[in-house]
Amino acid sequence: MPTNMPSNTHSRPRGGHFQALAQSLAPIAFLRALPAAPPALASASAGADLSAGMGAGVGASVSAGTAASAGASAAATAAPTASAAASVSAGAGAAAGVSAGTLALALFILVALLALLLMLREAASFALETVRLPADGGASDACAGATPDGNSLGDSGANAQVAAGAEPTAPGAGSYASAMPATASATAGDTGAAPASDSGGLRILHLSDIHLRLLPIPLPKIADAVRRAAPDIVVLTGDYLTSPKDAAPFLDWLSAIIAASGGAAFFLCFGNHDIKAFGYNAFELAAYEKQLKKLGVAVLENRTAIVERGGRAYSITGLRDFSRKPVRAEPALRAAPKAGCYRIGITHNPDIALDLPPRSLDLLLCGHFHGGQIWLPLNLQYTCLRKERLCRMGICSGLHELNGIKLYISRGLGCVLFPLRFRAKPEMTLIIAP
Ligand SMILES: [Fe+2]
Repeated sequence: MPTNMPSNTHSRPRGGHFQALAQSLAPIAFLRALPAAPPALASASAGADLSAGMGAGVGASVSAGTAASAGASAAATAAPTASAAASVSAGAGAAAGVSAGTLALALFILVALLALLLMLREAASFALETVRLPADGGASDACAGATPDGNSLGDSGANAQVAAGAEPTAPGAGSYASAMPATASATAGDTGAAPASDSGGLRILHLSDIHLRLLPIPLPKIADAVRRAAPDIVVLTGDYLTSPKDAAPFLDWLSAIIAASGGAAFFLCFGNHDIKAFGYNAFELAAYEKQLKKLGVAVLENRTAIVERGGRAYSITGLRDFSRKPVRAEPALRAAPKAGCYRIGITHNPDIALDLPPRSLDLLLCGHFHGGQIWLPLNLQYTCLRKERLCRMGICSGLHELNGIKLYISRGLGCVLFPLRFRAKPEMTLIIAP
């Protein structure tokens, strides 16, 4: 009787060990029973055959254990399964090797699939970061630049020089660059808390690296976060398109963000992917600029705009990306009022901060690095896969101070190559400037 099978096997002490093994293999036996199992899963079922193949008696015990887990109906087939398993008795040692290999392969595939799902999930979520900057005018004395490096954008002759690969040192120790804790910082998930309450200053919502083609975050979730952030201005720091075909969908996407912003002013600069999408063709890029302007978005490619909030002037200077040469940012930087104005720069590649005259801006917002997108041990995602100078110095994301300029590097929202992220959660950032 099939219902007696568990007690029979229990009466045999030698079979008890294999019964436990068989129970652990029960899910694999179940997979084998599927009518159209994938090759990897089907091969995993060989593990059950291996256990059975160690001997007829042991095989019966394994089958019994498997049947006990699968239910009484499955137990009815235990004896034939044991017979079949016993017939596969050609070299238990060799079979053990093969089965261990297939089990390891199946385990590897399962772990890989799980990791893939987790990375997809991370790429499809985002954080609304809030950063309140101190009202100290921006520049810190701890970060004075040194000598020119031959890539000067300014005319002061005092640009900072940093050797590639140099490590940032602790703040206050004569460091050139230092990581800065935000004076107020909160992270909220895409369904999380509202940002900090408004107690003055300019509320800047920073979006970067949209990469619309590989943006798995639903637009309504992003629009809802924009609505909750209640920004005074929205700045976008590049990388929206992969090809000109993305231009119209991006305009639609941006229109929804504009509608959600509650009347905020929009400022935008291009990233390397946008420029590449148009084949480095200045005329096509200019035509696209016109379409953006029709939406009310100010395109700042080496241009400066001034906004006022609470009786204070804020300049927004868009610095052209390195991939659109020549950069020639000096006239735009000079256009910002020298006194009484909080000077904000927007650009795509943070490396430009190394070439700016010291204290030429109070705040520079950028993206480009994606927070590494997929973390690797020893930060190999930066040191092996990128050639930019800042990320090799360990300045990769978040708030830093460099060359007398506060620098915020966004992890961005979208992805490149694959819609996957690992330990580099997408973000949009509400920055409250003094
Ligand atoms: Fe990007």
